[in-house]
Amino acid sequence: MSDVESGIESDIDKIALPDGLRLVQVDDVVQGDKRLALVGDEKRYGKPLSVDFVAGKAAHRRRFGGGRGQLVAKACGLAKGVTPSIVDATAGLGRDAFVLAGLGAQVLLIERVAAIAALLQDGLQRAARHSDTAEIAARMMLRHGDAAQSLAELVASAHFMPQVIHLDPMFPHREKSALVKKEMRLFRELAGDDNDAPRLLEAALEVATHRVVVKRPRKAPPIAGPAPQHTLEGKTSRYDVYVHRSLAR
Ligand SMILES: C[S@@+](CC[C@H](N)C(=O)[O-])C[C@H]1O[C@@H](n2cnc3c(N)ncnc32)[C@H](O)[C@@H]1O
Repeated sequence: MSDVESGIESDIDKIALPDGLRLVQVDDVVQGDKRLALVGDEKRYGKPLSVDFVAGKAAHRRRFGGGRGQLVAKACGLAKGVTPSIVDATAGLGRDAFVLAGLGAQVLLIERVAAIAALLQDGLQRAARHSDTAEIAARMMLRHGDAAQSLAELVASAHFMPQVIHLDPMFPHREKSALVKKEMRLFRELAGDDNDAPRLLEAALEVATHRVVVKRPRKAPPIAGPAPQHTLEGKTSRYDVYVHRSLAR
């Protein structure tokens, strides 16, 4: 997929960033590679932010994460003999999408913040070059765009037929917490609050053929709009599930 097709700016100097933040190529000494990183004042934001599917938490979760028993997999309807096509319309750093693709699903990732989409593209390109993750990366396709505004167009341009749409918009209350990890502060500075989540849910319900699933903090209210048919609760988060039709054959 070319940068033009994916809508991702290939010249990182042209990507608009909040004051004090920079996108830079840094050496990855462990993988003997270069990676794109978002860098800010360490005291305020902590370590640089980049996307790494090959090592670290993503690799650990791939090996020991619990397979189809994971909440995100159950919510998206992955089960024995059922592997739906999924749009992750709030891709972020791609963690949920990588889990789903790791379990065999074809996943279209959509991210509206240019800098986050660039970090994600860089992570996907490196995953595609590494033997442990190449097969998973081959099931992941990225588009830069706003899913609340143009979900149907983004999906059509990728020739994708989503059975399931996964949404994990930012939840404003979490931001106020003093416990927000430094890594998340940098991410939040870029992504902001996703106050248009009700519009995104509406768009997702129009485009998904089978179900829409929404990740929320466990105690948070559902997104304003139609009520979910059922919910799945984990330790800290919950999935609200909006069903159009069964995924079972
Ligand atoms: C909480 S993060 C998602 C984290 C992601 N689930 C993961 O596993 O890394 C929310 C992300 O969705 C993006 N986003 C929110 N609304 C969007 C929209 N309408 N279209 C595309 N991206 C959106 C935000 O920019 C942010 O990067």
